[in-house]
Amino acid sequence: MSLRIKIAKDYAEMSKLAADLIIDLLNKKPTAVLGLATGSTPLGLYEELVRRHRAGHDFSQVTTFNLDEYYNLDHEHPASYHHYMHEHLFQYLNIPSDHTNIPDGATSDPAEECRSYEAKIAAAGGIDLQILGIGINGHIGFNEPGTPFGSTTSLVNLAPATIEANSRFFERKDDVPQQALSMGIRSIMNCRGIILLANGESKANAIAAAVEGPVTEELPASVLQLHPDCTLILDRKAAAKLTHSRC
Ligand code: F6R
Repeated sequence: MSLRIKIAKDYAEMSKLAADLIIDLLNKKPTAVLGLATGSTPLGLYEELVRRHRAGHDFSQVTTFNLDEYYNLDHEHPASYHHYMHEHLFQYLNIPSDHTNIPDGATSDPAEECRSYEAKIAAAGGIDLQILGIGINGHIGFNEPGTPFGSTTSLVNLAPATIEANSRFFERKDDVPQQALSMGIRSIMNCRGIILLANGESKANAIAAAVEGPVTEELPASVLQLHPDCTLILDRKAAAKLTHSRC
């Protein structure tokens, strides 16, 4: 059980390597269930998947589950992850809309929404391949430092560092929601395969701690050291603080 690490020369190569792994899986299993992330990191991957679709790849049998969504934000809000997924991916691919799943952050009953989200993942047979980004504080999904490793999908509080980092997507910092619905650490660890993407120097400390530090709830991504099939695809800047030599 050790993390596989691929170091790409730049963001474009990181994105292509991730797309290759997804397409390899879909060639073997066209009905695969993919776990998807939002944020800046996977934008290049999504552009690459759109290119692969235009070049002929069929996504019609794929099912997707997103990691998280802001709580109390309309689906139409430009910073919502519903909007993001439509804008950057779903409008371009031929995944049937009833095969795409994102936690409903506009729900009036978050506890029930979280229960039913876990049930939907189970009914789909679990997630074959989960794409993750990483927060500068080591969060995965919106599981902030201190989240129990046994957590499942739940309503979570965002850390001040996350609110600060995500304020770039909102007009004012005060507009950033303070809570989100997020798949939990156990939900992520239950995925059969995981790809974590990271680029840029702002992620270098979190990556070094996640890969070479102790496995601790204080650094959520460190739990991935315990996953049987997890690949990190990093650009050189995100990999810069890894101390062991890597090929
Ligand atoms: C997004 C998510 C978050 C992001 C992380 C990095 O669905 O779950 O964990 O992956 O905050 O965000 P970016 O890619 O914007 O640096």
